[in-house]
This record gives sequence, structure tokens and C-alpha cells, in this order.
Amino acid sequence: MLRLIFLVFVVLSLVSCNKLEDEKKFKIGFSQTGTKDDWRKSMNKSMEIQAEFHPEIELKILDSDDKVENQIKDIEQLISENVDILIVSPIKSKQITPVVEKAFKNGIPVIIVDRKTEGENYTAYLGGDNYQVGINAAKYIASFSNSLKKIIEIKGLSGSSPALERSLGFEEVVTNNPNLEVIKVIEGNWESYSIKNSLSKVLDSIKDVDYIFAHNDRMALGAWQVVKEKKLQNRISIIGVDGLNGPNGGIQMVKDNKLLATILYPTGGDEAIRLSLEILKGKTVAKNNLLNTIVIDARNADIMSKQFDKIYQQQQDINFQQDKIKLQEKNYTSQNIALRLLLVLLILSILLGVYSIYTSYNLKKKKRELELQNRKITVQRNQIKKIAKEVKASNEAKTNFFTGLSHEFKTPITLILSSIESLSEEKKIRDSKILNELSLIFNNSKRLLRLINQLLDFRKLEDRKFIFRASETNLFTFINNIYKDFEREAQKRNIDFKIEGNNLDLTIFLDRNLMDKVFFNLLSNAFKFTPNNGKIIIDINDERSTNFVKISIKDSGIGIPDNELESVFKAFYQGSNNNKASSGIGLHISREIVELHKGSIEVHSKHGSEFLITLYKDRAHLSSDEIVLEPAMVDNEVSGFNQEYEDDIYDTEVISKSEEKYTILIIEDNSDLVKFLKNKLSISYEIYTSDGNDGIEKAIEIIPDIIICDVNLPVKDGFEICETLKKDLRTSHIPTVILTALGNKESYIKGLESGADLYLTKPFSLAILSQSIKTLLYNREKLRYYYINSIHNIGQEAEFGTIEQEFLQKLNLIIRENIDNSNFTVENLADQLLISRVQLYRKIKAILGISISDYIQNIRLDKAKELLKDSTLSISEIAYASGFSSPNYFSTAFKAKLNISPKAFRDN
Ligand code: FRU
Repeated sequence: MLRLIFLVFVVLSLVSCNKLEDEKKFKIGFSQTGTKDDWRKSMNKSMEIQAEFHPEIELKILDSDDKVENQIKDIEQLISENVDILIVSPIKSKQITPVVEKAFKNGIPVIIVDRKTEGENYTAYLGGDNYQVGINAAKYIASFSNSLKKIIEIKGLSGSSPALERSLGFEEVVTNNPNLEVIKVIEGNWESYSIKNSLSKVLDSIKDVDYIFAHNDRMALGAWQVVKEKKLQNRISIIGVDGLNGPNGGIQMVKDNKLLATILYPTGGDEAIRLSLEILKGKTVAKNNLLNTIVIDARNADIMSKQFDKIYQQQQDINFQQDKIKLQEKNYTSQNIALRLLLVLLILSILLGVYSIYTSYNLKKKKRELELQNRKITVQRNQIKKIAKEVKASNEAKTNFFTGLSHEFKTPITLILSSIESLSEEKKIRDSKILNELSLIFNNSKRLLRLINQLLDFRKLEDRKFIFRASETNLFTFINNIYKDFEREAQKRNIDFKIEGNNLDLTIFLDRNLMDKVFFNLLSNAFKFTPNNGKIIIDINDERSTNFVKISIKDSGIGIPDNELESVFKAFYQGSNNNKASSGIGLHISREIVELHKGSIEVHSKHGSEFLITLYKDRAHLSSDEIVLEPAMVDNEVSGFNQEYEDDIYDTEVISKSEEKYTILIIEDNSDLVKFLKNKLSISYEIYTSDGNDGIEKAIEIIPDIIICDVNLPVKDGFEICETLKKDLRTSHIPTVILTALGNKESYIKGLESGADLYLTKPFSLAILSQSIKTLLYNREKLRYYYINSIHNIGQEAEFGTIEQEFLQKLNLIIRENIDNSNFTVENLADQLLISRVQLYRKIKAILGISISDYIQNIRLDKAKELLKDSTLSISEIAYASGFSSPNYFSTAFKAKLNISPKAFRDN
């Protein structure tokens, strides 16, 4: 578009350039002798009028003030200005000739007017016929009578051609006419003052003078004044030259009888311009252009002056017309400009119109292209999405397969381990070689199990399926327990293995199950890479001035190259100096777990490696859902994999429950078996027994964590008992193991139909039973996490369909209905659920892992949190609305649970 506008302006400027060219003037320079007298003024005027008729002409007149040196300078100036035509009226012929010749030789056409230069170096001469003037004057005097006429001749400036030529013409007639006699010649300079004195003297001496012939009217007037002064005006007649019209001109003097006659000497101003134009047009002009002259005396003076007046009047009219034309031209010019402007605007608007059409066409085109591109991108994106989905599904399938397979591995490995257990119990085997082989199988099976568990952990991390539950834990005791697992190996390899701490009483919030993996992994690594006789130190440093505790595990092993320090926590990373078999996910899992605790783990390596874990001492970083009052069991399946084979390896002490043991109810009528089981399991669990007569009653009374039930019982068989308990809301959640000798498929199906969680046939492996109990408890923990995490959904979507869900739904509904009732008690709740307070307590503890009152309070606090966030109620109002009996109690409970006051919580 800009280019188009530029084009318009170029076109317009070209148009205006043409116009300028039209107006360009020829420059005509005129060097005038002077402008003191009317003749010269008239000459200039007639030139100017003529020039005005021709707008292409620029006329420049320089006045030399009748001084020769001035005139030379003027002509030089006009030459330097590069005039197209030079007109000169030379003051004196000889002196002005060289400069005129210079101009002529420079190629400037030169027109000489009025007076002449010497030689022929000019283009043309134009002026009155001075010779003829002299002749006319003499002849006129001669025409009066045949008597002798005595004449005084008053000459013009000597050295000027008119003076010379007029004299010559006059002389020629006088010489040839015996009646004419020039009795005196007076030298003048064209002006009257120059002759007055000399004439006066002449007239005083010569009395019989008849005529005076003066070379111009001004000197003639001077002569008249002298003659009049001497009162000789009736005797002497005076003849002048020029014949100018106007008050002081020669014609008027004739009319006034001051002069007898005046010989017309035209200025030739207008003719000089006309001649210039001819030359400029390239026409050939005559070298000598003489203007006519006549005698003006009393007979024709009047008519002549009238003629001149008329000419003057006509010139005035012409001037007037010209002024008018100029005005018209001015109007025309401004209209022309306006028109051009309009034209420009028109062109511009047309161009803009064209441009906007072009642009909108382009835009539409671009839009279409973009739409097309967009459609393509959308198709591509959908394809990518589809591919990504397929890849994800395929990955998912692979990972699921892999995870499933890993799970599948666990059972055979567990069976292998329990087979070794059975074999080791075999009293017949005492061969140390076989025992060593068994030890090897056992240790490697344990190692395999640990690796599988690590892989499953990794999968859980990827899926964000780790359920994080922190409980208050004595840090030193916790780490010390893990430390103990490695003591034996340290002794065996003579490793200086120490644990140190500056605050043995420090308790922090940990998910023990998860953190156990971290410390176990770090210590395993330390032992893996530390040579015999090396050093491994655990240092627990309570940074008292801060809110952090730092746990360092430092070894004197091979260390980690500096450039790899950043990478050790990446999944599947294998250190370049690590020649040992490793999955490469242990440190990755450890970092994820530490970060779940909002802590950090870093590694330094200088003479061995140091892993430094920083954890919060308080619990402000944890949400209420992440805090549990009781710890989950520590799944230490992975523990002990480094231990050597020994008898107590089969110890069933695999579950540590710090505060209270899990309870097991054994319903069995075989007292030997009851004794055996009680003996084996009571180390880890609190055991209750029933011979089968009161199995159901005991279960309802105790609400145990696990029920182990025989099938062949006196009153009701095991299937019936199991079915009854599973249908009872109070006991429905309890995992049940059916122990039976019935190994057939039907019995197995019947067992499962009764709702049993596990069906073991006799003779069973104690290790399998022990592992099964652990698994059931572990699964119940998982279920508990599940309930806790889904607690808010249970009320809305009954997609689980179990008795527990229905129970929790009902429970939640009742609590929510009474949320603002601070008098609502656990008894009220148990009554509405149609169970006893103790049963309710146990049931909730079993399902959710917390006390019912804590559970109610958690719901109240959640409600309060919601109100603090979303409502404008005051804190007191919120306290009551959430069922707290007083604002103070509310604040205390809130702060205890969330470590922040309700007000600060709202402000945040
Ligand atoms: C004017 C004038 C005229 C005369 C002419 C001769 O300056 O003196 O009166 O005729 O010059 O060149």
C-alpha cells in the first residue's frame, strides 16, 4: 500500500515538474545608461510592458547611473548570471565595446539599443535612425525660406554614437544647402545644464542667430530658457530631438511654442523585447534595425500627442486586462491545486479501496489456510492422542502384566521359603552341607522377594498409589531397629558400624513402613559398596535451633564420581563404578519417600559416600488425613535378606506392633492344634480360643483382628460360623481363615462362598499360615487406607457394595446429621447403629485404624475447615456449627490436629 501512495506522489510531482518547466523564464538582461531622464524611463517602461505580455520572460534592468565603469560592471554581472539575451544601451561606444564583445563571444546574443558600440561584435542593433534625425532637422530648417539661416548646433555627449550620427546627418544637408550655415557648435552631454552657460556666451557674442538645433529636447529646453532670458524667443527658433509625449516632453514644448519642432526619436524598448523573443525562438534577425523618425511641429503636435495618449491609454487598458488575467490565473492556479488535491484524494481512496479489497481477500485466503491448517493439526493431534492412548494402554498392559507377574512371583517365593522351613524342621536333616545349601536357597529367595517388593514399590510410586500415613515415632529407636538388622553382617566383615544421635528422645512423624524402606536401602547400599574392615556411621543430628533433623549415613566405600552425584536418584541409574547387580530403583524410591515426608535427601562423596536426609521435626507440613495415631505395621518382608541362615530365621516374629498386638481368635476343637497354634502365634499376636461351641459369641465379643476357624466343629460347622460372622455388621470386616482337612474342590468353593478370606488345607505350613495372616492384616490395612481416603465418597456412591461400605455410609450420614450437635455422643451413634459402644469402637478401629471419637472429631474439623474457607461465619459460630461445645475447645482441638490456629488457617 505504501508503495502505491508513493507512486501517486511520484506521478503528481512529475505533473507539477512539467508545469514548472512551462513557467521557466528566459532571462533577458538589460544594461541601461541611467534612468534620470524621461526618455530612458519611457524606454524601460515600454520594455517592461512588452515583457509582461510574455510570461516566459524574466527581464532584469540594471541602471549604470550614466557612469561607464558602472555599466562595465553591470554587463559583467549579467554575463555571470548567464542571461539568455543581453541588451545594452552603451553610454559611450569605445569604452563599452570590450565587455559587450566578451558577452557576445561567450555565446550570449547581444542586442545594442539606441547608442552603438564600435565594430560588429553583437547580434543586432536597434534604435532610431540618428543620421536621418540630423538630416530631418536640417531639411526642416531649410524648408522655411530661401534666405540664409544661421544655426547654432548643440551636440550630445561626445563619444556617443547618436551625437556623432545626428551631427553627420545635419552637416550633410547644411553642406549642400547654401542657405544654411552652422555658425557655432556647442558641446553638451545631453543634459540642459551642460549647455546653458556656453550658449549664453555665444548669444551674447553672436546677434544674428536664426535657429538652434539641439541634439535632444532636454538640451533644447535649456536653450529655450537661455533664449527667453535674453528675450530672443521671437527671433530664434529651436529644434530638439526625442519628441516625447507628456507634460515635459518635446511634443508639449512644441505645443507650448517653446520649440519650433522636435524630431521623433523612438526609444525602441518594446521592439527590443520583440527582437529578443525572435532571437530566443532561434529566428534569424536583421543586424541593423532602424526605427522610423518624423518631424513634429505645430502642425502635427496635437495629433501626435493624441496618438501617443491613445497608445498610452491602450497600454493602460492592456495592463488592466493583464491584471485581470493574472487574477484569473491566480484563481485558476488555486482551483487547479484544489483539483489536483481532489485528484490525489480520489486516487488515494481508489487505491485504498483496492487495497482493502485485496487485503480482505488475502485475509480470507489466510483464514481459509489457517482453518485448513487447524483442521490438519486437529486431525494430527487426535491421531497423536489416539497413538498416545494406545501406547499408554499398551504400556499399562505391559506394566500390569509385569506387576501381576511380580505379584505372582511372591507366592512361589513364599512357598519356597516355607518349604525350606519345613525341611529345616525335619529332624533327619543334620548334614551341614545340606543346611548350607538350604541357607543359600533361603537367602537368595529372600533377596528375590526384596527385589520384587522394590519393583512393586516403584510401580506404586509411578501410580502415586503410596498411601502416606505418618505416626509419631521415636527416631533413634526406629533407626536403631534397622541398624540391628545389619549388625551381624558388620561383625562378619569387620566393618566399624556405629549409630550415633544427639537426642535419643526425639520423636517425629514418619510413615514407618515407607521410611523403613529408605533406611534399609541406604544401609544395604552402604554395606554393598564398603569393603571389609571399612566404616559405616549413622548419625542422627537434632538441629535444636531449627525445625529439622538430619540423618547421615556415611560409609568408607568406593564413593560416587562427582559428575554422577546428580544422577544417583534417577530411576534405573547405574553408577559407572558399580559392578554389583542392582535394580537402580532403590535410591529413586528412597528420594520419593523422603519427598512424601516433605523432606530432602542429598548425597556427598569424599572418601566414600554420605547420604544426608533432612526431615521436619514438627507436623505442620502434614495434612490431617496423613496423620495417624497408631502406626501401620512395618512390612519387613524385605528385612533380614542379608541375614545368614539360622534356626530362628523362621521365627514368626514378623509383625511388630509397638503399642498393642493384633488379636486372633482360633475356633478349633482339636486341643493339640490349638496349643500348637497358640504356642507359635502368641509371640506376635494376642490369641483367643474357642472350641467351636461359642465361636460366634466370642467373635462378637472380642471383635478380633483375624479369625482362624476349623470346619469340622460340634455345633455349627466352620462354613456356617464364617457365614454368620460375615453377615453380622459387627464382625463382617474381620478376615477369616478356614483351616480344614477337606482338600476337595467343593469344600474349597463352599469355604469361599461362606465369605472366608482364605482356605488352607491340613497339613498346612506354619510359614504359609503366618504369611497368610500377615497378608490378610496387610490387606486389611490397605482396605483401611482405602476407606480413609474414600471416606468422603462413601456417602455418595455406593459402588463397593460391601457391608462395610453400607455401615460407613450409615455412620457418616448419622454423624453429618448431627454435626452441629455438641451433645451428640458415641453412645448415641452406637444406639442408632444398633451395636454396642465397644463394638462400635472396635469396628471403627479395625476398619479405619482410629478411634470413633477421633473419627467424629476429624469430620467436625473437616466441616470447620470448609466453613473457615468458604463462609463468612465467625470462628465462634463455626465452632458451634461444627459441633464443638465451646470455641476454646474448638481452637485447642483444631490446633492440636492441624498445628495452626483456626484464625491463622483462615488468614492463610
Ligand atoms: C536620453 C537621451 C535622449 C537622446 C538619447 C541619445 O538619455 O539623451 O534625449 O535622444 O539619449 O542617446
